[in-house]
Amino acid sequence: MKTSLAIPVQKTTKSKLPETDFSTLVFGKTISDHMFVADYKNGEWTDLRIEPYGALDIHPANAALHYGQSIFEGMKAYKNEKGEILIFRGDANAHRMNESAVRMCMPEIPEEIFMEGLLQLLDLDRDWVPSGKGASLYIRPYMFATDNYIGVKPSETYKFIIFTCPVGAYYSKPVNVKVETDFTRATEGGTGAAKTAGNYAASLFPALQAQRAGYDQLLWTDGKSHSKIEESGTMNVMFDINGTLITAPTNTGTILKGITRDSVVQLAKDWGMPLEERFLTVSELQEALEKGTLREAFGTGTAATIAHIAKINVNGKDYILPENKANAFSNKVLNELDGIKYGDIADTRGWIVKI
Ligand code: COI
Repeated sequence: MKTSLAIPVQKTTKSKLPETDFSTLVFGKTISDHMFVADYKNGEWTDLRIEPYGALDIHPANAALHYGQSIFEGMKAYKNEKGEILIFRGDANAHRMNESAVRMCMPEIPEEIFMEGLLQLLDLDRDWVPSGKGASLYIRPYMFATDNYIGVKPSETYKFIIFTCPVGAYYSKPVNVKVETDFTRATEGGTGAAKTAGNYAASLFPALQAQRAGYDQLLWTDGKSHSKIEESGTMNVMFDINGTLITAPTNTGTILKGITRDSVVQLAKDWGMPLEERFLTVSELQEALEKGTLREAFGTGTAATIAHIAKINVNGKDYILPENKANAFSNKVLNELDGIKYGDIADTRGWIVKI
């Protein structure tokens, strides 16, 4: 592989590969052998390196632990039949990470460092990329504050790390969701569009209530009126009502700019599928469920890919969605995206980088 940055590598002396069972992967539990690390100090990213995945030395006064300057990305790599590794839309993740960094008063990471660190890490750990449809290598780039200081101000030092996990499906079956009208995930002027740790922390309590009541996830509504559907936990969400695809717009600062969301939107446009990027109201959703005009609903996300929704609870009432049909838009889009990601369908949009 041709590289433009010289990144020193310290290899593990004991690979975990021989004891890893790739047939029983649970999302996020199995971590590959190495990680890419870079440190930010004195206004620049330095000390780029690849080292064995392992514990970090964190000071008790670490600023990220106290005030949450912490952002992350989620992306995936796939193995094609020739054994080559394909990364899906990595540049989009690098770009979004920097948008999150700006919102959280953190330094941007140059795309060259992000991509080179990633490519060299994946080249070293290429045996960790699982083969076979449905399996992939989940990539977790993240950055957090490292100042040892508990005054409330932006940290002056940071760490950027990428580690990877071989994974199967995040949701193994269609999901049941509940429209949430009490708690709020994001509000205009807040941090909803940033992929930052606190957004996920704030979602845990409401999500847990829903899980205790038998649902997998929430459908978040807007923080002001709770009358408009925003996104689901860990995914953006899309509805097919009478053949029109409806998904929330990403210009309010409350919606995560999902890369899978964007890919589905691009495919829908290319295929001439009627598409409305607007907020679906809770009452419209309930009416479509009552009248039977909701053909399907699904979540889109890197971890979740395309997650079909089986049941939606609106205003306390459960609605079962029509059975997922092979010719549904969600399946067409899932097959197309999988085809591109695994190299079976030509990538005409510049979405794939091969190693
Ligand atoms: C992803 O899809 O990569 C996400 O960030 C969801 C994750 C929090 C599991």
